[in-house]
Amino acid sequence: MELTDPADPRVEVYSRLTDAALRRRQDTEHGIFLAESSQVVRRALAAGHAPRSFFLAHRYLDSLADVFAAHPGVPVFTGPDDLLQQVTGFHLHRGALAAMDRPAPRSVDEVLAGARRVAVLENVSDHTNLGAIFRSAAALGVDAVLVSPESADPLYRRSIRVSMGTVFSVPWARVGEADGRGRAAWPGELERLRAAGFTVAALELAQDSVPLDDPALRGHERLALVLGAEGPGVTPETLAACDLTVAIPMAAGVDSLNVAAASAVAFWELRPRG
Ligand SMILES: C[S@@+](CC[C@H](N)C(=O)[O-])C[C@H]1O[C@@H](n2cnc3c(N)ncnc32)[C@H](O)[C@@H]1O
Repeated sequence: MELTDPADPRVEVYSRLTDAALRRRQDTEHGIFLAESSQVVRRALAAGHAPRSFFLAHRYLDSLADVFAAHPGVPVFTGPDDLLQQVTGFHLHRGALAAMDRPAPRSVDEVLAGARRVAVLENVSDHTNLGAIFRSAAALGVDAVLVSPESADPLYRRSIRVSMGTVFSVPWARVGEADGRGRAAWPGELERLRAAGFTVAALELAQDSVPLDDPALRGHERLALVLGAEGPGVTPETLAACDLTVAIPMAAGVDSLNVAAASAVAFWELRPRG
């Protein structure tokens, strides 16, 4: 369908994509997420997500022709670059977008079932860091990711793209959302991990941290690694709720790693062996 008006209500879900806070609200209200780039669109479809519409520049139409043929009832919106840019607020240099049904949230119990290594993200509000952590989790043997209430949305467009679509393959759930009476359950819900037989370790530089290459760490059958935000790191309340603290020893003069870099190092070192 050729677009002639940037205010066409049929493509409202593609509007103002650079406003992350607005999108987080709107996408949840509309029950959608946006997949960006042909590769990520294909990965979302392969993971079983249902498209509502596609939105792309003329020159990318051929590259997804097989996808459109496989979804004959789903509208494909296209138009000149400048009109598409007026809708989205930025140049669509990655080609394709697709609005897809947001899946029902998974429960913590569901994603923990059978998991041996779990990453727990506390207040990781940066979409790039969150996406990069998911990519490392998928690549390095982490079976599930739990995200605290203040962490970014794994299904936000940028998280999905940076994760290279691995947010579709690594099981994840929100943990510690406020209950019906507004009582926050974070970090108290870490107790659920312990009850499920996990050792809960904060990845953080602290006085009493165990070095990451301590052989005893590899002996834990079920291990949950809690990662903190850039700046504050893992909060004192959460550190107190963990069984131990693990540090990646740093060279003199360097305070810490970026959280996504730290996750990759730790996931590799603590991967299940045997
Ligand atoms: C940039 S750090 C937070 C700042 C840090 N608390 C500081 O004192 O500068 C973000 C997160 O990355 C992880 N991290 C970074 N470097 C680390 C290290 N050397 N050892 C363990 N965790 C680390 C931790 O989970 C931390 O909460």
